[in-house]
Amino acid sequence: MKGAIFFSGKYGSTEQYANWISEATGLPVFDIKDPNADPSKYEYLILGSSILYFGLSIRKWIKANRSKLENRAKILFSVSGAGPSAKLNRWVAKSLPSELALQMEHVALRGRLDHSKVSWWVRQILWMGSLFNPDAAARKDERYGFDYMDKDSIEPILRLVAQFKQSEVLVE
Ligand SMILES: Cc1cc2nc3c(=O)[nH]c(=O)nc-3n(C[C@H](O)[C@H](O)[C@H](O)COP(=O)(O)O)c2cc1C
Repeated sequence: MKGAIFFSGKYGSTEQYANWISEATGLPVFDIKDPNADPSKYEYLILGSSILYFGLSIRKWIKANRSKLENRAKILFSVSGAGPSAKLNRWVAKSLPSELALQMEHVALRGRLDHSKVSWWVRQILWMGSLFNPDAAARKDERYGFDYMDKDSIEPILRLVAQFKQSEVLVE
């Protein structure tokens, strides 16, 4: 059983997690912008996506490739400022066709926001958003940035991949 990692990110943290998972599992990793990124060649998939503006940045690609994603084991990891929470689950759920969401294990990872790497416009949008954010810690993160990158947090994904690999041995 062959597996692969497909990721969508903008500022490097989702890519960093995808590369850590690849190093730990030996699975190939593809940016979804790569025209060679074809999920139909693999039997199990690890899909990684940043959360931007309360949704998964990979959502359009998932909808466009839906038929290639059905009938395959799937793990989804999200990378966000928010930690695991009901609001994060809502953002993930609304980004996915509900039947597909039921077929995925979701692992929530926390990323990085470096204000010096985003445009002036994005900084203004984040500042505006912070004015309406009822959560004090999230408000501070939006205003000043954060770095929650944590290599150890990929552990649940490595355990799931080990299970896929185990079932591969049992099938053979
Ligand atoms: C424009 C913008 C919008 C964001 N919106 C959210 C959001 O709605 N919820 C959240 O938890 N984090 C949000 N974040 C934080 C990102 O999820 C976080 O920085 C993530 O690590 C980005 O992944 P990337 O480096 O792969 O692009 C946002 C960041 C940016 C720059």
